[in-house]
Amino acid sequence: ISKTTACMELRLVQPQLGHPDASEPVSYTAFEPTFTYPIFGEQEVVFGYKGLSIKISYTSGSLRIYPCIDYKQKYEPGSSSSATTTATPEGPDDVSNMLLDFLPKQDCFSNYDEFVRAVQEDAESFRPIGEKIHEYSRESSESGEEHFEIYRTSFINEKFKKYHRRMQFFVLLLIEGSSYIEENDEKWEIYTVYKRQNTGGSTIYHFVGYCTTYPFFYWPECTRLRISQFLILPPYQKEGHGSELYQTIYSTCMSRNDVKELTVEDPSEDFADMRDRNDMRYLNTHNAFDKLVAPVSRKTMKELRQKFKLTDRQMQRCIEMYLLSRVN
Ligand code: ACO
Repeated sequence: ISKTTACMELRLVQPQLGHPDASEPVSYTAFEPTFTYPIFGEQEVVFGYKGLSIKISYTSGSLRIYPCIDYKQKYEPGSSSSATTTATPEGPDDVSNMLLDFLPKQDCFSNYDEFVRAVQEDAESFRPIGEKIHEYSRESSESGEEHFEIYRTSFINEKFKKYHRRMQFFVLLLIEGSSYIEENDEKWEIYTVYKRQNTGGSTIYHFVGYCTTYPFFYWPECTRLRISQFLILPPYQKEGHGSELYQTIYSTCMSRNDVKELTVEDPSEDFADMRDRNDMRYLNTHNAFDKLVAPVSRKTMKELRQKFKLTDRQMQRCIEMYLLSRVN
């Protein structure tokens, strides 16, 4: 029995930059999945292998995929060496097929050299899809200033629809209880974050994370925008990118007359924490709570909620945090 959360690895692969004679033409950043049960079942295990390794490599921007399954020994039904294994009588699990049920087959390479060629070609040619709505920079101790861009798009864009089929695998592995969204519904609004790297006269984009939002009806003729899936890939977490993405979506809501409320579907603890910090920062810099003292009337609560487009519950949380922060 192999525990898939331990033997599975995801890799973001990019060309080896600035090292023309480097022995490897590519380099990568790796991370592990948090969950694998959508693919391998509730127990997150596969049967029939010793020394199983599942490595799924992605070109870092265009997200084309090279799944590689390796093992030291495989259970063969009927063979004498299999007598002591715990594999099912039907034989070992078909890991490749289990994965390919969730990956877009036409964008998966079976040959490593072809994948490496794609890493090099796509680094030159891949550009984010959609409309650029925000950009920002970060100081990095390793490489000086780093640049990031946020784009907005939808499934009306056929090119993006195909790209999203490659992207969505990450949410299964990193967001608890997530599932694939309906790509034929053109109302989804999707925000993507990229790192833009300028190197030797060319520009390379690396995928950082994304958020899917859905516009629901808000009586009588407005919109409640709901954040559905929100993900920053592990190598980029805790660097402020989630906050930038959330603030960008929130600012979009504040500037849109049709949007009356921003809600979140089933937020994780980490997301709720990040959202609280960002909402509090925005409310404080906009003097939302000036002169506010307990007890806060329903009327004040409603006015604040409507002005800042937060849900009743989220506004209550923020008011409580504000009042508690004032307690001596
Ligand atoms: N350097 C160091 N730390 C920083 C920096 C920085 N420059 N900027 C922010 N931080 C800290 C923040 O203070 C915060 O730390 P703390 O909460 O421990 O005090 C922490 O980093 C988080 O803030 P961000 O960096 O802005 O958040 P991040 O980019 O990590 O995104 C998120 C948060 C979305 C939860 C991400 O970790 C993630 O994708 N996790 C896995 C999937 C997930 O849980 N998604 C949400 C599911 S809910 C839903 O989809 C609706």
